[in-house]
Formats: sequence, structure tokens, C-alpha cells
Amino acid sequence: MKSTEQWGSRAGFILAALGSAIGLGNIWRYPYVAYENGGGAFLLPYFIALLTAGIPILLLEYSLGHKYRASAPLSYRRLSKKWEWIGWWQVFIAFVIVSYYMVIIGWALSYTYFSVGSQWGQNTEDFFYSYLGTTSEFWSIGGIEKNVVVPLLLVWIVVYLILLRGAKKGIEAASKILLPILAIAMIAITIRGVTLPGATEGLNVLLKPDFAALADPKVWVAAYGQVFFSLSIGMAIMITYSSYLPKKSDLANGSLIAGLGNASFEFMASLGIFSALGFLATQQGVAVDEVVASGIGLAFVVLPNIINEFPGFNSLFGVLFFGTLVFAGITSAISLLETGIAALKDKLDVSRTAAVNWVCGGAALLSLLYATKGGIRYLDTVDHFINNYGLLIAGFMEVLALSWFVKKLINLKGHINDVSDIRIGSWWNISLKWITPVVLIWMMVLNLKDELAAPYEDYPISGLIAMGWGLALALVVIAFILQATKWQDDEFLVSEQKES
Ligand code: ALA
Repeated sequence: MKSTEQWGSRAGFILAALGSAIGLGNIWRYPYVAYENGGGAFLLPYFIALLTAGIPILLLEYSLGHKYRASAPLSYRRLSKKWEWIGWWQVFIAFVIVSYYMVIIGWALSYTYFSVGSQWGQNTEDFFYSYLGTTSEFWSIGGIEKNVVVPLLLVWIVVYLILLRGAKKGIEAASKILLPILAIAMIAITIRGVTLPGATEGLNVLLKPDFAALADPKVWVAAYGQVFFSLSIGMAIMITYSSYLPKKSDLANGSLIAGLGNASFEFMASLGIFSALGFLATQQGVAVDEVVASGIGLAFVVLPNIINEFPGFNSLFGVLFFGTLVFAGITSAISLLETGIAALKDKLDVSRTAAVNWVCGGAALLSLLYATKGGIRYLDTVDHFINNYGLLIAGFMEVLALSWFVKKLINLKGHINDVSDIRIGSWWNISLKWITPVVLIWMMVLNLKDELAAPYEDYPISGLIAMGWGLALALVVIAFILQATKWQDDEFLVSEQKES
């Protein structure tokens, strides 16, 4: 059964690509990553990462999917027999990410409800951890937490129904509805944020560069990790999405819109959130540093606190913020799952419904792990290792394979220039062949040194091995095993590239 998925229009593709990019990464992840990595100083590595890796890799993935017209593993397979595993590796990275991503969307859904009448009360930190039912020891799994699993299942049902309807009627239609709502809600939140008393205090923290932080490799790894996560690159998504485009489609233009649109959204969200942090600090008469909770709790602990202090319309702004997280999360979650669905359909030659059932069913099962009482620590560990190691190394291997081993950059550039109005120049090859691999490998080595010096978050080594290193490594092994297994229909392997 050859893939028959196709977008309804090019605008539909761009909306779906933007919907994939704009997600929890922009609203939930960016502010705490930026804050933990030098605040204002983070902007510089972030933009360097965007220009040297983000947009060039986005374009690379668009051209791969568009030229080879298949899911990621099949696109790699058509490119060269030896590299199918990179496609699988990226599909599994997306699969693991979505398994915890859905849980955070579930938290956001609960918090949309808790916003009505600020049900979290005054101690938002205690409220968050008691909502999660968090246990104190890493390994005390503690069973499934009802508060978390119910919204999680609701989100799974919505996402499943969208995916069943396919690319055009499901993903594209959902993005067309959700993305404009998201943009309007985020603009409203940002305007409210920057006009709050004390906003400048927060903006100073966000924008004031701390150049000393630039010497820290951790900051650079975080910047590249954030760009990869936020742009949805290295996750096989953009290869899959661009394979659903008609043969004549402007790729260069599409990648610039998605890359810059996503960065603008991220930047706007951070202006709104840091302004609100400045407001909270001013209300409490303390420095901004003292109101910021680090890590994944930022959105769920500090934001409710801010909403408590709001001068008016508290419930409305709460619903708006957490509702925005839910919508942004859904459009990205469907893209993370679509990569696996397309790959399974291609490899096993099964129907879309069967592939949706398997991929959503498998990821839903895995997501239950983070709905346990120990779930937040598992989520934190998996997120840290999958992003800083899995995603970045898979991205590194992708550019390495294409620029140094199969040496297809020239062909892909020719393909992009054939279909695009804007012609891409040598910055693209130089970034992919030299800058991205050199910077990534150099950062990895320095970062790894720090990682090995002290256990992440002081979690037990057994936990870091099982859910960190072990999981990241297992994905590569599974990818190689899948490369060694047969395709159901050998005809698939015949590249359609000659026609394009
Ligand atoms: N790109 C998606 C996000 O930013 C995964 O959340």
C-alpha cells in the first residue's frame, strides 16, 4: 500500500509544519532553558544555533522528504541502503518524546480547569506536587496517579481521532483551526505581560547578556538542544511532512517561514513570561531570581502564582495560558506520532488505521510510566538524555551521513533550487558540512565531561542508566535491528526520485 497522503495546499503544509514546531518547547521549555543558561546570554547561542543548524537542517529534511517522497526510514533507505537506521533512530526519538510530551499536555489540560477560580490556592508548589502525587524516592513508582491519567487519556483520544483522519483531513484541518487561535492567545498574553507593573525587571533578566555564560559548553548544548526540539528537527518529522507535498513546492521559502515563525513565537512567549516574572517579583518585593523555579515546574508552579497576583481577569488569563499550552502541544504531538505512523505503514505495508493503532497504542502505554507518582522524575530524566544526547547525536549523524558519507548535499541543493524561488547559496553546504558537525561534536565532548563528573540532578545511577543512557542507546540498537529486517514490499525500495 503506497502512501497516498497529501496536503490539501501548500499553506496547509506550512501551517502543519508551524504547528509541529510551535509547541510545549516554545512556551513551557524555552523560558526555563533560557533562564538556566544565562538568561539574556542565551539569545546569542540560540540565534547562532538557529542559523548554523536549525534552518539549514530544516531545509535538509524538507529536501530529503520531498525528493525521496517517503517516511524517514524509507527516505534514508532510498538514499542509501546503509543509512536506513538513522531514519528509524529519529522515529524512535520522536516516539519517546511524545510519550512524555502527552503527559505534559495532560497537566496543562488539568491546569486549564484549575485556572477557573485559581483552584491551586496560595502554595502553588505544594499544589503541583500533590496534584502529581509525587513520591520522594526516585524508584518509588507508586502506581498510576488518577489526577494525571484522566486528562492524559482525554488528550490521547483527541490526538488519536485527528491522526485517524489522515494528513489533510486530520493534521492539516486541526492546524488550520488551532494555530490562529494559538497566535491570538499568545499575542494577548504577551501584551498583558509586558504592560504589567514591574515587567521591565523581568525583561532585564531575559535580555541582559551575561557574556561569561558563553564560555560554558552547557549553555551551547542547551541552545542547540532547544533549537532542535523547538524546530522539530532530528525527529524525522519534517522528512515525513515534506513527503506529503506536491512535486512542485517551494521548499526554501517554506523552511524560512517555519524557522523564523517558530523563533518569533518562542521569543514572543519568552517576553510575555519574563515580564510576568518581573511583575511577580515586584509584587513580592524580591529579585526576579527568587521567584523563578527552575526546571520543568516553571510553567506549573510560577505561572499559577503570577495569576494569583493578577490585577483582574485571573481565571481568564489562566485559561488562556494553559489552554494555549494544550493547543500548541496537540499540534506538535500529532507530528511526533505521524513520523512513526508513516514509517510503520511503509515498512510493514499496513493500512493507516492499523499503523495509527499501533503507534498511538504503544506510545500511550509508555506514557503511563510518567503518570505514576514517580513520573515527574522519569520524565525529567528521559527529557534530559533524549534531547541532549539522543536528539543532538542523531542530528549530528544526519548531517555527517549526508555531507561526508553519501555526499548528497549538492544533489539536494540542486533539488531545492529547482523548486524554490529563493536560491540557496554556499552558506547551506558550509553550515552542514563544517559548522554544525564541528560545533556539535565539540560541545558534546565538553558537555559529556560535565555530565560524567556529577550525576544528573543527583538521581541514582541506576535510574540514569535505565532511563537516560540505557534508553538513549537502546534506540540506536533497535534502529539497526529494523534496518536489518525486510521490507514487506520491495517495490517500495525503488526510489521515486527519478520522476521528481
Ligand atoms: N517542536 C515541538 C515543540 O516545540 C516538539 O514543542
